[in-house]
Amino acid sequence: MSELTEWAYPLAESLLAEPLPRRWAHCLGVAERARTIAPVLGQDAELLEAAAVLHDIGYSPDLAKTGFHPLDGARYLRDAADAEPRVVNLVAHHSCAWMEAEARGLREELEKEFPREAAHLNDALCYCDMNTTPDGTPTNPVDRVNEIAGRYGPDSLIGTFIRRAEPEILACTSRVLDQVAAAKRQPI
Ligand SMILES: [Fe+2]
Repeated sequence: MSELTEWAYPLAESLLAEPLPRRWAHCLGVAERARTIAPVLGQDAELLEAAAVLHDIGYSPDLAKTGFHPLDGARYLRDAADAEPRVVNLVAHHSCAWMEAEARGLREELEKEFPREAAHLNDALCYCDMNTTPDGTPTNPVDRVNEIAGRYGPDSLIGTFIRRAEPEILACTSRVLDQVAAAKRQPI
């Protein structure tokens, strides 16, 4: 484990494990998924794993303020946890957050406060999140989006957001899987 992941796991655990054990299991699963694509991330593998385990801390009752979890989580990391800015920015923008932010009237706030990291890193985090069930087991993005829409209701804010985000979620997944396949083809 690197310094970054050694810091990230206990922090996420302290915020999620007790109040939201299922969400904690999900975050551990997303981090596990991040480790499986480490070969395509190179020196950013640990950055991605840290962001993965922390990505949903904004749901923690201790720090939920606006009710929009990517923004609440990123603000906490920036203001209270003195986190590395790249981790903060990945959490702020995870899994097409801008689209949900737009539906909540928070897009400008989100984008003003948190710059976007490189596209391949946002893709990687979206892939990890959208290929992991709420219980932390592996899934595929089609089932994942259907599960979210079903859980919140198709006409809810999140149900509408996730359907709008679906093409981008599927595109993220195929971009990441293409990179994984290309890395496997490379001669040693
Ligand atoms: Fe999330």
